[in-house]
Amino acid sequence: MSPEISTQIRHGALIITFVALSALLLYTATYSHGRLSSASFSSSFFPSDLNHSSAPDSTAELEQILNKASMVNKTVILTTLNDAWASPGSILDLFLKSFKLGDGTHKLLNHLVIVALDQKACNRCQIVHKHCYALVTEDVDFQHEALFMTPNYLKMMWTRIDFLRTVLELGYTFVFSDGDIVWFRDPFPRFFPDADFQIACDHFLGRPEDMNNSPNGGFNYVKSNNRTIAFYKFWYCSRETYPGLHDQNVLNRIKFDPFISNIGLKIRFLDTANFGGLCEPSRDLNLVCTMHVNCCIGMERKLADLKIMLQDWRAFMSLPSDLKNQSIISWRVPRNCRYTFSDNFVFSNKS
Ligand SMILES: *[C@@H]1O[C@H](CO)[C@@H](O)[C@H](O)[C@H]1NC(C)=O
Ligand SMILES: *[C@@H]1O[C@H](CO)[C@@H](O)[C@H](O)[C@H]1NC(C)=O
Ligand SMILES: *[C@@H]1O[C@H](CO)[C@@H](O)[C@H](O)[C@H]1NC(C)=O
Ligand SMILES: *[C@@H]1O[C@H](CO)[C@@H](O)[C@H](O)[C@H]1NC(C)=O
Repeated sequence: MSPEISTQIRHGALIITFVALSALLLYTATYSHGRLSSASFSSSFFPSDLNHSSAPDSTAELEQILNKASMVNKTVILTTLNDAWASPGSILDLFLKSFKLGDGTHKLLNHLVIVALDQKACNRCQIVHKHCYALVTEDVDFQHEALFMTPNYLKMMWTRIDFLRTVLELGYTFVFSDGDIVWFRDPFPRFFPDADFQIACDHFLGRPEDMNNSPNGGFNYVKSNNRTIAFYKFWYCSRETYPGLHDQNVLNRIKFDPFISNIGLKIRFLDTANFGGLCEPSRDLNLVCTMHVNCCIGMERKLADLKIMLQDWRAFMSLPSDLKNQSIISWRVPRNCRYTFSDNFVFSNKS
């Protein structure tokens, strides 16, 4: 229980306690969209047998791995992985399976780099995939369980932003995808050709340039250039302006900052019709590229709904082509996931 909540319970009347608990619920739900939930952080991070502590070595190794995985135009696909999501039959397996079942996505696995956050995830990656990178951070003690929204959890999320900045500085354009996103179609044809930073949404308001859209940090396409590098530095530094906030919520604040227009960064929000999720499913299976089990707390629930999505996709793919476009198959999800669209809509407005 968080310190704020225990204070409320000690001092508060019943009504105040109720309000506080609701706030925690809203807070937790908002912060966990597409994020690694507390259950996922049970591993010991960065064990001493991984000696990547000297930065230059580590960057050289990263560069080598990116180079091997890259498309000809220096573009890679990145995901992060920890122990809890890596075990056989877990989220990683469904993630990789979706590329194989998807329409034109199998080849994209050649360009996917799995960024392992602990030793077990690294070992598992090496068994199931060819491009693995162990992300090791010197000054953070991740030996103990990093509970959701604790300082260690936040450090982990911010480490990721800092890592992605390094990738941009090395000259690589990337698609970052959380591991709990299934890929059914090649997303590249759906990206805006002229934007610097494109990001999926929990809720899409209808216009890609509308800054009021609620972005989801679990999926983005970022071109490597001076504007995006400056932006990632600014984003990372803004964690100090908004202490205790998750990278996604900080993004929600800084998206209006004049810094963005001053550097000329072009941001576009991706339509949930193509890049959907449980917050707002992509209804037409003819259009879907990716589906995220966002608005969903807990690994078991995520796994259950991911499995249903893969079944739905298979059923869709087995239809004769003249039936495919008649929308006779739609998603049966969310089914196991707790947060419905309306719950979440309230959360977004409050955050
Ligand atoms: C880690 O690497 C550094 C530099 O390559 C080396 O000097 C050091 O001895 C290594 N430490 C361990 C525990 O292997
Ligand atoms: C890079 O190459 C991929 C694969 O051919 C393509 O889909 C993508 O659009 C290219 N990116 C750019 C910025 O041209
Ligand atoms: C980006 O910055 C580098 C180093 O400051 C500079 O050499 C380069 O010309 C810049 N590129 C663009 C496109 O502005
Ligand atoms: C479905 O696809 C067929 C063949 O591609 C096309 O003739 C038909 O107009 C499509 N129907 C709809 C509703 O889009």
